[in-house]
Amino acid sequence: MPEAFRSSILHCLSDPGEAASSSAVEYFEDGLLLVEDGDVVEAGPADVLLSKLPEDTRVTDYPGGLIVPGFVDCHVHFPQLDIIASYGEQLLDWLNRYAYPAEARFADPDYAREVADVFVEQMLANGTTTALVFGTVHPHSADAIFEAAAARNMRLIAGKVLMDCNCPAELRDEAAGGMTASRALIEKWHGKGRLGYAITPRFALTSTPGQLQAAGQLAAEYPDVWVHTHLAENRNEVDEIARLFPERASYLDVYDHFGLLRERAVFAHCLHMNDSDRASMAAKGGAAAFCPTSNLFLGSGLFDLPAMRAAKIRCGLGTDVGGGTSLSLLRTASEAYKVLHLQEHALPVSRALYLATLGAAEALYLDDCIGNFLPGKEADFVVLDPTGSSLTARRVAAADTVDEKLFALIMLGDDRNIAATYVRGRRQSVATSPDA
Ligand code: GUN
Ligand code: ZN
Repeated sequence: MPEAFRSSILHCLSDPGEAASSSAVEYFEDGLLLVEDGDVVEAGPADVLLSKLPEDTRVTDYPGGLIVPGFVDCHVHFPQLDIIASYGEQLLDWLNRYAYPAEARFADPDYAREVADVFVEQMLANGTTTALVFGTVHPHSADAIFEAAAARNMRLIAGKVLMDCNCPAELRDEAAGGMTASRALIEKWHGKGRLGYAITPRFALTSTPGQLQAAGQLAAEYPDVWVHTHLAENRNEVDEIARLFPERASYLDVYDHFGLLRERAVFAHCLHMNDSDRASMAAKGGAAAFCPTSNLFLGSGLFDLPAMRAAKIRCGLGTDVGGGTSLSLLRTASEAYKVLHLQEHALPVSRALYLATLGAAEALYLDDCIGNFLPGKEADFVVLDPTGSSLTARRVAAADTVDEKLFALIMLGDDRNIAATYVRGRRQSVATSPDA
């Protein structure tokens, strides 16, 4: 028996581009989203679809709302939740001062489980229904985040971090042990329900050539697992990589050399790249996570979306918490707009939505099952609520078009504007305030 959700509905069919092609989006002012057994049956105009439905179909109304596909976060660190918004450093100092000590606390499995649970709740409260997630070096950190996602039937990809040099001793694994642990986690979690595994070398600075090579071999053995790492985020980091790997043509070439540049490989940041890197990333099917709040907060640089898309690289938004400052893809899209503005590029609202939904699904090679409301896709969706704050209520009331309405929600909105988050057609109960 299908179930229906009635509201305004907006989703992307392809990348609207910098010129905001109108054929790339579909909008129903009075729309109906029809769901059965957790999948989308159809999205369309309410009057047309209602006339075809059995009279006793359950219809949930969200008057004044806007239904969009569930947000997809292409890069985030769950163990860094408790050090989000830590003052003052650029990447390498920030890692030493804040991130590594925070991750060392995950030696305690109970703490890992507690943070994983809160993290997943926070994602859902922000309308995020899928994410690609870093754990820590501890295998039980991956267990914790997978268990938290599975309990809510969320689609989630994660992995235990690999790091065997240039980091505190308590966070170090070694090449063989790291691979044995990763292999066991792949066998345990990859493809179980909606979960997927990502082989997760932190970045080329914290893995020896031996570990990068072993990671590449593991990736070759499991072509349908993901690879997840950082690339060319910070100038000092890029200089260090050039010093450590003088025989490689570029930072990306280090990963390529070890077999880590391929389809389903997702690289966070990609700020300091040349055209030749972009061409090889596109040719090999690698994807980029654009993490604007992190790039601004850590003073890392400005992501060149038009150059990446011109090279035909798959791109999606990432929050990169805790270098990033919000788990909200609305806030992240707002900062993406400003990053592009600073480079004299446009980010039309439809393209911002694309980067948080279908584009991100493409970057994760999940666009066959999520990212928009085409029939047969998994019914993950969010109901945006303009009345979530008095300011958004006032601004949206003055908006004439859906673009203007969504743009105001992106610029001004946050978790207060998420009225409901649905995972495979089921509403999630989420705690957004201490007294909720
Ligand atoms: N590069 C290597 N590790 C990290 C991390 O934890 N956060 C960010 N932003 N960049 C990294
Ligand atoms: Zn990161």
